[in-house]
Parts: sequence; C-alpha cells; structure tokens
Amino acid sequence: MIQDEIRALCAQKNAIIMAHYYQRPEIQDVADFIGDSLALAQQAAKTDASIIVVCGVHFMAETAKILCPDKKVLIPEPAAGCSLADSCKAEDLAEWKKQHPEYKVVSYVNTSAAVKALTDIVVTSSNALKIVGQMPAEEKILFGPDHNLGSYITAQTGRKMELWDGSCHVHARFSAEALMQLKKEYPEAPVLAHPECKQLIINLSDVVGSTQALLNYVKRNPDKKQFIIATESGIIHEMRKACPEVQFIPVPPETTEGVGCMCNECEYMRMNTLEKLFACLRDESNEVTVDKAVAEKAVLPIRRMLQLSN
Ligand code: 13P
Ligand code: SF4
Repeated sequence: MIQDEIRALCAQKNAIIMAHYYQRPEIQDVADFIGDSLALAQQAAKTDASIIVVCGVHFMAETAKILCPDKKVLIPEPAAGCSLADSCKAEDLAEWKKQHPEYKVVSYVNTSAAVKALTDIVVTSSNALKIVGQMPAEEKILFGPDHNLGSYITAQTGRKMELWDGSCHVHARFSAEALMQLKKEYPEAPVLAHPECKQLIINLSDVVGSTQALLNYVKRNPDKKQFIIATESGIIHEMRKACPEVQFIPVPPETTEGVGCMCNECEYMRMNTLEKLFACLRDESNEVTVDKAVAEKAVLPIRRMLQLSN
C-alpha cells in the first residue's frame, strides 16, 4: 500500500510529515502530526527530523523553512498557494507602511516570507486575540491581510486597527442563507465558525475560533448530537474520529460553481495527494527555499509569536 511505502521512506530518511487539518483525509491519516497553522509552526520549531514534508499550502512550508533553515523542507505540490496570502504583496505592504510610519505591523501567518520580513509580529487565528490584546494601548496597528479576522479582533478586544482588504475565498463564500436554513433544521446544533468568515456568518455562530479551537470545542462537548461547521470541511475528518456518533453538517458555499462540492473545500489544500507525497519523499523533490536575507528578517516576528503563544 502506498501509505506503507510513505511510512517506510519516512523511517529510512528521518523525515516527518506535518499536515494541516484541511488536507485530504488520507493525507491526515498518514501524517506524523496534524495541526492548525500555529501548531504546525510550533512543531517545525522543535522537530529533530532531517526532512520536514509540509502537507499544507506554500506559506506553511515557507514558515517551516524559515524556522529550520538547516533542514530540508518539502511540499508535495509546490503550486498549492493561498488566495489570502496572494492578496498582500510585499511591495504593497511596504507602501502602506510608508504611509503609516509610526504603526506596528501585525501580519496573519497566511502571508509570504517577504511580507513577514516587513512585519513586527506574526499571529495565527489561535493566538491573534491574545497577542493583539497584549499590545500596549498607545501602539497603532496595521493589520493584514485578512479583513474579517481583523474586524473580529477589533470586535472582541475593542482595539482599533487599520485593516488590509484581503480575504480567504473559501471562508468568505459561506452562504448565510443556507446557514439560517440549517439552523432551523437543526435547532440544537451549535454553529462553529472560523474568524476568517464574513461578519454575517460570525453573527449567526455560537463558537468562533481557529481550526484547533473548533476541534477542541467538539471534543469537550461529546453529548451534542450535531454540529454545524463553517470552516474548510477537512477538519470534519478529525472531528468524526474524535466523536464518531456525532453528525457534522458543513455549511455550503454561496455557489458551488468552481467549488465542485457542497462542503466548501480549499482547492489549494486539496492539491496535495498521497501519490505526490510519496514521489516528493522518494525523490526529495519540491524543496522549499527562502532567500537568506528575507528569512533572517522573517524569523524575528515568527519567533516573537511563538514566545507570546507559550
Ligand atoms: P488556522 O490553521 O489558523 O485555523 O487557519 C485556517 C486557514 O485558513 C489556514 O490556511
Ligand atoms: Fe488560504 Fe483560505 Fe485555503 Fe487557508 S483555506 S489556504 S486561507 S485559501
């Protein structure tokens, strides 16, 4: 079986497979470690493996490489990008900074290495409330690129920030109409949403949190019969494993055109397959590199985040 061959290659090469919760179920099942963006960065920072295969999107592999410059970091599909990271180019951020010289830049981890190099502190959806909440009140903040996450942080902490106008096309396209219908059909089911969702969806939700926080909520409430899920549906695999008796109902996108399913999948995350994972491990191909000068700057706001997350 291809899974056995992948595990044999990992043992032979002292390689570790790290997978995001939005990966295909079969990739999650073969991984050494599954996590959200924060957990993947934390895991990369402490692994003693020689090779790290990041089953996620490109910025996640870049983050691992920045934290582990001496290790070989591979990604099964190098074209696995991110619409949110793409919405903020380094040169545009540099221009924004120039217009606001006295501001601190807080960047979501869903950004390129070049953007991180222009950043004061990186956050993920797991720690953004805590980190922004701790910043001195007199510090002015430029926050990017996710506008929805930025608005959510402001609503929760009262902290005003200048927001970049970017979004994740997956989280921005959940249908509020369909969610209202699901709430009528399943009145007892808590609605769990990711803070990258638009305001309308957040307002209709009972629990808002990072992928990990939503999974933790499910695990802490195994007595519930159903949950309605407004985040990329890959997380449902892990939720089902934790609570096999529970029904998980994905909120559909506004239109299935270009999505191909009623459960809202990130097509970038799904580009990684078992076959590509096997080939990249076998050939040690698709190595992720980051310019040394960029990496030396980008590592500082990532390390700051890891310290503040402890
Ligand atoms: P988290 O992994 O922080 O929940 O973010 C979700 C996401 O969209 C990752 O690309
Ligand atoms: Fe980027 Fe959204 Fe896909 Fe996450 S789900 S990788 S934020 S496009």
